[in-house]
Amino acid sequence: MLFTIQVNNKKIRAEKGETILSALNRNGIIIPTLCRMKDFTPTGACRMCVVEVEGRDRLVAACSQPVEEWMKIRTHSPRVITARKTNVELLLSNHPDDCLYCDRNLNCELQRLAEELNIRERRIKAKKIRPMLDQSSPSIVRELSKCILCGRCVRVCEEVVTATSIDFIYRGSSIHVGPAMDRDFNFSSCINCGQCIIVCPTGALHEKYNISEVQEYLNNPEFMKVIQYSPLVPAGIAEESGIKYSRDFDMVLNSVLRKIGFEKVYNTGSGTDILIWEMAQQLKDRISTGKREPLFISACPAWNKYAEQFMPSYLPMLSTLKCPQQIAGSLIRTAIADQAGVKAEKIFSVSVTPCTAMKFEARRDGMMRRGISDIDSVLTVRELGRLIRLYGIDLSNSNSEQADPPMEGFSSAAALAELSGGLAEGVIKSLCYSETKSFPGRQHIKKLRTGASFRETVIPAGKYKISVAIVDGLTGLEKLKSSIAGGSKYDLVEVMVCPGGCINGAGMPFRSQKDDRKSLARMIYQAGAHDAIALPENSPVMMNIYDKLIGESSEIADKKIFHTHYVKRDVLL
Ligand code: SF4
Ligand code: SF4
Ligand code: FES
Repeated sequence: MLFTIQVNNKKIRAEKGETILSALNRNGIIIPTLCRMKDFTPTGACRMCVVEVEGRDRLVAACSQPVEEWMKIRTHSPRVITARKTNVELLLSNHPDDCLYCDRNLNCELQRLAEELNIRERRIKAKKIRPMLDQSSPSIVRELSKCILCGRCVRVCEEVVTATSIDFIYRGSSIHVGPAMDRDFNFSSCINCGQCIIVCPTGALHEKYNISEVQEYLNNPEFMKVIQYSPLVPAGIAEESGIKYSRDFDMVLNSVLRKIGFEKVYNTGSGTDILIWEMAQQLKDRISTGKREPLFISACPAWNKYAEQFMPSYLPMLSTLKCPQQIAGSLIRTAIADQAGVKAEKIFSVSVTPCTAMKFEARRDGMMRRGISDIDSVLTVRELGRLIRLYGIDLSNSNSEQADPPMEGFSSAAALAELSGGLAEGVIKSLCYSETKSFPGRQHIKKLRTGASFRETVIPAGKYKISVAIVDGLTGLEKLKSSIAGGSKYDLVEVMVCPGGCINGAGMPFRSQKDDRKSLARMIYQAGAHDAIALPENSPVMMNIYDKLIGESSEIADKKIFHTHYVKRDVLL
């Protein structure tokens, strides 16, 4: 039901049941918010969104208060502005003034609010919070003194990620956010997904930086410097540099990485193609033996750790295939090193990815060979953006160049694999193609693509009928579990922790809550529909890797380097 309310002496239309904030925003009236997150029930914790409602003594939080027909609202009265300003001043009263050194400098919601509210002096002084840096996690750094207790990270970890690894601890002036018993992150059940980083309005949470070690090796002539980047990275770099992305930009990134000093530049997408191809074989073997036990895809490192911690009984169903970054890394360290005549230990191997959990994945026990890790250093897209700026490279004035063989390209199936449902789609298409020389119908594929957090369908692939389930963000996991408990049988299950897939990974550029990456996802789907190389088996790059690299190397012909293991992990906290 629509009715009229009065805002700043003007009439606007509001809808029964919506909040004041929603009515204001729909009518183009903007007020600041801080603790509020789109699609979450409001908590009313920060009171940044307060407005004056005629007849009410106290200011009202617009994000949680429903509109009522009689309401007369003032959004920017002197009382409202003073209240908002005081709220921000209180937050700043014990905040460390180290913006110049902060991860979120020029991209911080607290900084922006202080600027918008014209705060030009520190009026309220409180005792500074003891600086506390928790660098124990391979993926996430906590800087407690920058936390403004908005609670966004706690809610995301509990309601979206379902790991509940952090919470408010202690009370009164000692209150802060952290793992249970106030222990370090590496003792917690954190799965390194970094979704908390994305929602944190300040620099209290950020990825563990690996830029310095990369710089150090770039200057070391004893090492061959090699970099791989996953298919989403060019779009991420374009986004954070304010450049309109098109597929041509992928080739620009190759020359940029060479200018920085990398001697070999590879596409992680070639690793994805190997994964798709090998997993299609694993799936076929499993179905052919009549084993009606699902094969769980193991390409999302946050999911792998979640399964190890919270669902150990599922581990035998988890594919042993490594994720694309590690597959590409293991090839670089073995056959590619041999071809180049370089010792494995004399390669410094870097990966760029949209995912913070890959920093953890690269350090797993099962990701090394003869004591040397597949990958030395993992950078997020944001870190690579910094490295590009550090080296003063003009993106708009860089050549287009091919990546280096043997990992210079990938199929559209590999590009789709970074969207939720995409990897399962590639595996099923590959199996279907090997059986029938054709693809499953569009109506089947459509059901795998983005939508609900749990999707299931059955796809015919020649003589097989593949029952597949997609878990898009861990909120869909409960539905999967109850479906399995209810007797549903699946052949293939894909779980991605970040809703929507890697496209919303925590290593991608920060963006405002109203922006999403739906247009980028659409572009990837559209490009996929027109790509000449739809599958790994159509790709000359893949044929070369299998025939020349794998086939001719006695060391890796058994392809064991592409496999790892996952083990039950005790959750201490
Ligand atoms: S990284 Fe993920 S699991 Fe860890 S605390 Fe943040 S949201 Fe929770
Ligand atoms: S760490 Fe960030 S998101 Fe979490 S409560 Fe503190 S300021 Fe908010
Ligand atoms: S945004 Fe409304 S109370 Fe925080």
